[in-house]
Amino acid sequence: MSLPTYVQGAWFGGALLFIFGLKGMSSPASARKGIVVAGYGMLLAIAATFLIPGLKNLALMLAALAVGGAAAWISGKKVKMTDMPQMVAIYNGMGGGAAAAIAAIEFARGDAHSTVTTLLAVVGALIGAVSFTGSCVAWAKLQGVLKKAHRLPAQNAVNVVLAAISIGLGAAMVALAPAQPELILGFFVIALVLGLIVTLPIGGADMPVVISLFNAFTGLAVGFEGYVLGNPALIIAGIVVGAAGTLLTQLMAKAMNRPLSNILFTPMVAAGGGEAISGTMKEVGAIDAAAMMRYASKVVIVPGYGMAVAHAQHKVWEMTEILEEAGVEVKFAIHPVAGRMPGHMNVLLAEAGVPYDKIFDLEEINGEFGQADVALVIGANDVVNPSARTDKSSPIYGMPILNADLAQNVIVIKRGKGTGYSGVENALFYTDNCRMLYGDAQPMAGEIIQHLKSMA
Ligand code: TAP
Repeated sequence: MSLPTYVQGAWFGGALLFIFGLKGMSSPASARKGIVVAGYGMLLAIAATFLIPGLKNLALMLAALAVGGAAAWISGKKVKMTDMPQMVAIYNGMGGGAAAAIAAIEFARGDAHSTVTTLLAVVGALIGAVSFTGSCVAWAKLQGVLKKAHRLPAQNAVNVVLAAISIGLGAAMVALAPAQPELILGFFVIALVLGLIVTLPIGGADMPVVISLFNAFTGLAVGFEGYVLGNPALIIAGIVVGAAGTLLTQLMAKAMNRPLSNILFTPMVAAGGGEAISGTMKEVGAIDAAAMMRYASKVVIVPGYGMAVAHAQHKVWEMTEILEEAGVEVKFAIHPVAGRMPGHMNVLLAEAGVPYDKIFDLEEINGEFGQADVALVIGANDVVNPSARTDKSSPIYGMPILNADLAQNVIVIKRGKGTGYSGVENALFYTDNCRMLYGDAQPMAGEIIQHLKSMA
């Protein structure tokens, strides 16, 4: 069926708005606007769909929109910032599931399609189905519903066999099109199981990278199904999401210095590794830490996962404002994989009201640590571990790190001697210029604030 030009045009307009929206999301300053623009794109694409002449199942479509829209509105309003990764996982899974469902309907109808179209429908269905169940597992792990990593004996061989069977069944569907219902059903069951089996052994901490990979998968699946349906908005949106997800996955894997294959197929060994470190950790009190920063000319703050756990961002910003009033220059240094999700620290600091011009990426700030009187490391560990530069036996060897150790003085706020995500000791904590301020990040920042106020 050829669609009216105004519907095609509106879909194309929607696709352009997605691209402008994505462009806006490239900076925290314009990200909110970007989301709204992309939302208008989605609204336009949905509205145009209702203008297709002779549309059937109108009541079902409206009911689906009402249920989905209400669920998204309520969950979007209620979600906590720390629960954002699992929300992204489940929404992404829905996208993959929707792409697979579109393909399933097309196969079930048995309409004649060209071989290329059937092939794309099959590939989209396979990727979408894997992304659906994989994202559901990712959600369950991050939500704490699934607590353990379930690894089968000969896990990688099972993955390969399941992938080979699903590809074989898919190839049969293309060759025998229109395929028998049993073949279609078998294909979808195996594809859904594949997504489950591949994702179940992956540890919760690796999930952000996996979600980003599934995000790329969903984009591709949607793009392929867009081709099958002749819908340019789906094709463009799918390709944009696929490309963005692929880039983000690569960036995260690179910033963690772990090849993607290692994240997917090798369990993270949290038992540590790396050379033994000699020396002792030297403690400092909150009053001395406050004085060091109050009488400094430049302080660089390095936030990490612990700041997120402690919800200390508001106190950290309050402390920064007091220091700035006293004439101290304060900057924030953000590592690309600080925390547990992309942009984790940026989101928290933005929520606390820290202006964007005080927040610097690794490449921008690393040259400035040498001129800083104090580097305040708050709940960060791996991202400031200098062993990453030198210790070839360390699991984080080669990971780019923030050069906090080059500051005149380093103050580290953490609760005790806990290691970071990688499980390795941090050589920074044993250096002569480093002092440990033990305690939960939020009350500790609060104590520093009290001392700073009394020094005014
Ligand atoms: P981590 O290396 O995980 O270290 C966090 C530190 O925070 C711990 O050593 C812990 O020590 C401390 N901490 C925990 N709760 C605290 C609290 N309430 N108050 C004060 N301190 C607290 O964090 P990081 O430096 O941000 O590095 C991130 C790591 O996660 C990297 O290895 C990265 O590769 C990995 N990762 C990142 C991502 C993304 S996308 N960001 C995704 C997956 C994995 P104590 O227990 O002694 O307090």
